Amino acid sequence: MLVHSATQLLTLKGGPQRGHDLGTLGIIQNGAVLIRDEKIVAAGSTDELRASYKDEPMLDASGCVVMPGFVDPHTHLIWAGDRANEFEMKMAGKSYLDILAAGGGIISTVRQTRAASFESLIAQTRPRLLRMFAHGTTTVEAKTGYGLQTATELRLLKALLALEDESRIDLAITFLGAHAIAPEYQDDPQGYTDHVCDSMLPTVHDWWQTHAPNLSLPFVDIFCEDRAFNLDQSRQILTKARELGFPLKIHSDEFDNLGGASLAVELGAASADHLVKTSDADIKALGASDTVAVALPCTPFGLAEKDYTPARKLIEANAILALATDCNPGTAWNESMQFVIALACRAMGLTPAQAIAASTINSAHAIRRADIIGSIEEGKQADLLILGVPDYRHLGYRFGTNLVRQVVKRGRVYSVDVCYYRTA
Ligand code: NIG
Ligand code: FE
Repeated sequence: MLVHSATQLLTLKGGPQRGHDLGTLGIIQNGAVLIRDEKIVAAGSTDELRASYKDEPMLDASGCVVMPGFVDPHTHLIWAGDRANEFEMKMAGKSYLDILAAGGGIISTVRQTRAASFESLIAQTRPRLLRMFAHGTTTVEAKTGYGLQTATELRLLKALLALEDESRIDLAITFLGAHAIAPEYQDDPQGYTDHVCDSMLPTVHDWWQTHAPNLSLPFVDIFCEDRAFNLDQSRQILTKARELGFPLKIHSDEFDNLGGASLAVELGAASADHLVKTSDADIKALGASDTVAVALPCTPFGLAEKDYTPARKLIEANAILALATDCNPGTAWNESMQFVIALACRAMGLTPAQAIAASTINSAHAIRRADIIGSIEEGKQADLLILGVPDYRHLGYRFGTNLVRQVVKRGRVYSVDVCYYRTA
């Protein structure tokens, strides 16, 4: 199939885009992409590709931007229930502690998730994946972490594998058994830390070898934060995970600076995420490393807080900056990378081009899949978007509506706008 006549084809070729290189879109005017089966065979000018490939099925993208599918590298995709009541309390002026006292917070989602069956978890998560896909996300990272006990965490992993099997979106799975201190260990954080290291991680490792023998091990992530795991506990868990061969991620500096980002660099983690209260020393360490800095602007937005990831400082330090939704029921229930881009422009001072690169090629690096996705290049998976706008800057400029007209996933075309266009 030849996708042709794109007003702008954004290739995002090369990368990762470090520091001031961020925002190199590789634009081809009147561009075309040749796709065979699931792969991209060529990208170039419409005139040249049309002349060379006359007999291909044609997909006309005139008046449109064609770009790589979004890669969302940080979500808590799978949970049961919701916390709409907490949002109302928060907006009515209640504090975090009031909400906790009313049985709220992350543990309320843990309670609801533990009580949910495998089927119910799938049924509640599936619509989120469909919304992500309709908004242009073609690969999503998905964390466990609302079980905090082995049986439920394994149920979440199993459900994520089943969703990966049935859905069009590709999943990059992460084990986040260290998302919070489990309620059973409320007064013994070190006890839960030891339990994660001595029991949960080895169990997950062996379980994965049996249930997903053809997939590489999932990421292991941790919430390094004042009311969760301190720096020593984070080091203990991530070191153990690394010994077992898991690739690493970290939640760091969402509310306080404990040094988690430097720990991520030291241990060779794929990414350090949140990075709101990150110190200058941590920013410097990230800039000198291959650990991707993942900003999650929906989180402060969702919490109505004023501080966002200091993106310009990270760029100045030469870091690899990526963006993600952080989709979760507590702080940021949003499935749209388009909204993330609009927010990153306004709240973090990124240009649309920078935000687009941070949502495609750099976010592919954050889940270590940049060899197969994140750009439109020969040999990569044919995951691309046809946006119903003539200029890439409409991403960022516009917000709250969906600009995706069609999603091409592994070479197959899915129409998003069937409600409007008279397609067959
Ligand atoms: O990324 N930081 C920890 N986890 C989520 C929030 C989890 C929740 O409140 O349910 C986050 O913001
Ligand atoms: Fe998160």
